[in-house]
Amino acid sequence: MQEKNEIILGIETSCDETAAAIVKNGTELLSNVVASQIESHKRFGGVVPEIASRHHVEQITIVIEEAMKEAGVEFADLSAIAVTEGPGLVGALLIGVNSAKALALAHSIPLVSVHHIAGHIYANRLQEPMEEFPLLALVVSGGHTELILMEEHGSYEIIGETRDDAAGEAYDKVARTLKLPYPGGPHIDKMAAEGSPVIDLPRAWLEADSFDFSFSGLKSAVINTLHNAKQRGIEINPNDLAASFQESVIEVLVEKTYRAAREYGVKQVVVAGGVAANRGLRGRLTDRFANTEIRVSIPPLWLCTDNAAMIAAAGSIEYQKGKRADMKLNGNPGLELEAF
Ligand code: KG4
Ligand code: ZN
Repeated sequence: MQEKNEIILGIETSCDETAAAIVKNGTELLSNVVASQIESHKRFGGVVPEIASRHHVEQITIVIEEAMKEAGVEFADLSAIAVTEGPGLVGALLIGVNSAKALALAHSIPLVSVHHIAGHIYANRLQEPMEEFPLLALVVSGGHTELILMEEHGSYEIIGETRDDAAGEAYDKVARTLKLPYPGGPHIDKMAAEGSPVIDLPRAWLEADSFDFSFSGLKSAVINTLHNAKQRGIEINPNDLAASFQESVIEVLVEKTYRAAREYGVKQVVVAGGVAANRGLRGRLTDRFANTEIRVSIPPLWLCTDNAAMIAAAGSIEYQKGKRADMKLNGNPGLELEAF
């Protein structure tokens, strides 16, 4: 049974956000502090691991103190500290893991390790109930594109995944081709809303029964379209190109999610990861399931991108299951969700 006032400090440093948050009873957000480094990485067109680690070191103590203060809790009030173990950049993960270990040891608080993707999925539980199983999670981030079947809390089966680029990665690469700043996803999203999907681009359906994805062909098709137009002296409306690219990504994501939801008889679909912030995807997915008995949950934008509230929420599940990490915990850049 859930302890009455379970209070968890979540810590997230897997990529370019230094984040800490306090969550009560797995669902109630008491504070959520995120120090973003995007400005420092922008001029390099992507995250520079060494810069990320340095920022995490500078920010982590401040961010944790602020989260505790905002929530009005002391270390003695904490039931557990939950930290992202992986996947992510190893140097970045280590800052969070070592901070969590130091605090857990110093204050005798249980330590719980969390898979970053489980965190993205559980961001949904801070907003809406996540109690209807089987549940299907569409995870679309900068590093992942996966369809994950959950039979119960904390159990994950990957039924489809990208064979090459992640959806967010494709967005970022296409954005770079269009000379847009990093991260490119939000810019393409905005441009797509101003354009029309009039340019014919491929959709990678793969084998009929496969829930896998592939986005590298689409990315190449966008680059080729631009290149050919330039050689022929033809002007391409960048908003139309963004809309056409987005249409291709969304159509495949939405259709495969719908088919998988039907095939596995799921009761709830949740969307997770940075690309879940995409307005086109949010609208289309909601429409596709509109006249079905399947409930679709999409977190608000601020819960889609990396944060520690989601780590605390996923940590609550692990904590309730009695799982504990010890002082041997290490950052694991290749941590697998199913083995978690
Ligand atoms: O989950 P996330 O914050 O970090 C990872 O764990 O990867 O996802 C970041 C990704 C980036 O590729 C970014 O371009 C993409 O999410 N993204 C978007 C949007 N907002 C963020 N992609 C499409 N449309 C958006 N509105
Ligand atoms: Zn993420």
